[in-house]
Amino acid sequence: MGWSKQRLEEIAKTRLGGAKLIVVANREPYIHRYSDGEIEWIRPAGGLTTALDPVMQACGGTWVAHGSGDADRETVDGTSRVGVPPDDPNYTLRRVWLTKEQEDGYYYGFANSTLWPLCHQVYTRPSFDPAHWEAYREVNELFAAAVLEEARGGPAMVFVQDYHFALLPAILKRERPDLVVAQFWHIPWPHPETFRVCPWAREILNGMLGNDLMSFHIQYHCNNFLETVDRTVECRIDRERFAVERNGQSTSVQPHPISVDPELAIEYLGNDWEKRAGEFRKRHRLGGRPLLVGVDRVDYTKGIPERLRAVDRLLELHPEWKGQFHFLQVGAPSRTHLVAYSDLNDEVEMLVEKINWKHGTRNWKPVIFLNEHHTQKDLFLLYRMAVGCVVSSLHDGMNLVAKEYVSTRDDERGVLVLSEFTGAARELPEALIVNPFNVEQMASAMQTALTMPEEEQRRRMKKMRAQVEDNNIYRWAGMLLSEAGKLVDAEPPKAEVDTAVVDSDSSSEWDLESLIAREVGLSTAGFLSGM
Ligand code: F6P
Repeated sequence: MGWSKQRLEEIAKTRLGGAKLIVVANREPYIHRYSDGEIEWIRPAGGLTTALDPVMQACGGTWVAHGSGDADRETVDGTSRVGVPPDDPNYTLRRVWLTKEQEDGYYYGFANSTLWPLCHQVYTRPSFDPAHWEAYREVNELFAAAVLEEARGGPAMVFVQDYHFALLPAILKRERPDLVVAQFWHIPWPHPETFRVCPWAREILNGMLGNDLMSFHIQYHCNNFLETVDRTVECRIDRERFAVERNGQSTSVQPHPISVDPELAIEYLGNDWEKRAGEFRKRHRLGGRPLLVGVDRVDYTKGIPERLRAVDRLLELHPEWKGQFHFLQVGAPSRTHLVAYSDLNDEVEMLVEKINWKHGTRNWKPVIFLNEHHTQKDLFLLYRMAVGCVVSSLHDGMNLVAKEYVSTRDDERGVLVLSEFTGAARELPEALIVNPFNVEQMASAMQTALTMPEEEQRRRMKKMRAQVEDNNIYRWAGMLLSEAGKLVDAEPPKAEVDTAVVDSDSSSEWDLESLIAREVGLSTAGFLSGM
């Protein structure tokens, strides 16, 4: 019995036991904006929203997020709520409004200039600005107020996303001890020595220890987190249960690798993908040449310059490829108000120019840089067209591009070149695993990708596809909900449960129980052996 949207729906009903599900994430899943005077909606770039939207569609509930679109205020009701997806609503988006100063200090400042570089070991120095910290605290309080409003009148499970809200769990628990609070940290957790330089390390950890369940992608990040807690705050670490005990609150620390919905990939690809591929090739003058692709937000953790240097090296080592292939880089603009990001964009543009000038001809450019936002549908088309996809993150919690690439390849063709510093590398060893700092190795992997025999592509792709299909986004959410749900079982919430939504079909309940028991058994084994 596999994990599907329907299964997750059932789990949400039985495991939540009538409690309301509230997801909190900085980024909203749907942004309303003005385009030529008309209001349109878009889905933002980035793995978190892509992964969680299908989960919310299956479970229902409320997603609390920063309303960042210029037409967001025009599309909500009097309580800042709007039904989403906008074309067929089945859950609620509650928007929180931030001033420019709050957005500067909290999002661009503390979240993305302090915690982001602190957690990613890519040698970009974090800034430690007390004003940013103040804004971060203020915005965490603001989001807490919105969540408490949403949770009013009954039991609720709050599923907090990411490093934007390290302080939120403890605030929620202080105000509503009966809430079940779980947090998923989508980025790596660094070694304790790296984290301890942060002047607010203790406050951050205190905030996170308000969670009943604290989850990371991989065991290594859980280990780093526990070690950091052990060295920084007074508490008792239960190393057998992998939990932190403190002031009567227990925080279970667990790995749950995030994933994608493989069926969605095929749906997005559609039946007309070959026609669209032909049009795309014509528009970008690609002829019938093989493509290697890279798809990223333009972010210094993604190793974009490193992979471009590898393309340069490939052409130096194998000049026979001149005129014979393209490297197509999609770079979705991201956090562009930050100097580190705009500098990176300039660096990438310059490198592309340099490589194209050095190796290109009048009719052929080795590198094509598409520096704009693309829809999921377009991205899936590119994955399907490419003989290889290059993911060269210098450090990455998971990296969902790797899993998306695999999920579009139901033809069992294509080669994934994957950085060893991604969470995904642990699950997809059949990829060509590379160290992105090693240009020679990357160039050689690109050469292998361009020349790999069909049989070997198939052998590797089959295994990767099976892994992604078994461990899909519904399994991720189902496991997290059921682990957090166990905590609801252990400590029944004080408020009354609305029994109307509890599934009474005992046979499906039995199936679910055995599925969860089997999965939890597996994950517990992995958990202990990872220590
Ligand atoms: O992976 C971390 C993350 O912050 C995700 O939350 C998000 O999907 C992605 O990076 C994009 O970031 P932002 O929301 O800042 O554009």
